[in-house]
Amino acid sequence: MTQVQRSQSTLRVRPLSGHIGAEIEGLDLASLALDNRDNEGFATLKSLFLQYQVVILRNQTLTRDQHIALGKRFGDLHVHPMAKGPEGYPEIFPIEADANSSNDPKDIRGGKRAVNGGHWHSDVSCDVEPPLGSLLYLRDVPEYGGDTLFSSGYAAYEALSPALQSLLEGLTAVHSGEATYRLHYGHQAAKDRSQFGFKNGADYPEAVHPVVRTHPETGRKSLFVNRGFTREIVELSHTESQALLEFLYRHQETPEFTVRLNWTPNSLAIWDNRCTQHRAIFDYSGLARRGERVTVKGDRPYFSETASAVEWGLVG
Ligand code: SIN
Repeated sequence: MTQVQRSQSTLRVRPLSGHIGAEIEGLDLASLALDNRDNEGFATLKSLFLQYQVVILRNQTLTRDQHIALGKRFGDLHVHPMAKGPEGYPEIFPIEADANSSNDPKDIRGGKRAVNGGHWHSDVSCDVEPPLGSLLYLRDVPEYGGDTLFSSGYAAYEALSPALQSLLEGLTAVHSGEATYRLHYGHQAAKDRSQFGFKNGADYPEAVHPVVRTHPETGRKSLFVNRGFTREIVELSHTESQALLEFLYRHQETPEFTVRLNWTPNSLAIWDNRCTQHRAIFDYSGLARRGERVTVKGDRPYFSETASAVEWGLVG
């Protein structure tokens, strides 16, 4: 446990694994959301988020408006291309499994949405400008199960041989919303086509991104492909692309690059979509798990040979 001294209080940071994830104690998110003047508190939270890639804060009491206000401290909020928020709150992405939820595939196909994010993905990576990060606040959690797995794209990239790193750095991949969104939302057309990437009149967003992206704030390189949205590597044949993507997915799922977040009621997790992917585990059939996610807009992924954390002023 690391202690960070702030002017009036002490904040405790407990890393949760070797490469990704930390639990933070000693920050009250409601006051941080409301008080734009607490720049020291927010700067500390932001730098822990950048360092650990996913952070969890427990026993937080947040109204929906405070949750939204906290998200806005990270940047403008994203509106999901398919999911509908509660009346008057388009920026809220509901996460809801009630006691009738089923993980039977035919129920999901029938439109009974059992669980969001039950596959490895980086949120909405099919957008031309995928989200920077997400803030998920869970009020109700099942008495067992319902954890979320996260994987570090930095650790996965850094563990590859230099020869494979340099091959991947020249590649781009198509990310499409179709497979995931057709399952959850059927043929309902995406909301505002002008905001998202569409090709040839398709009903689902689609974008091409580098396979390795440079994080715009830390300068670190991260793998940026995921099972949920990545469809094909543009520069390779279909067979080569499928084989390489499958290798990269499995590589990123290596337990040493991951952390498993265990939720308690009224916890808020904040993750960086630019260098992580995650998977919600649906192992609590018949129990409720409810909350809301606020998602922060990001920018267009790029790869830079030269950018480094030193250049971005974060280290050195
Ligand atoms: C998501 O993909 O945003 C959902 C994660 C979760 O429910 O744990």
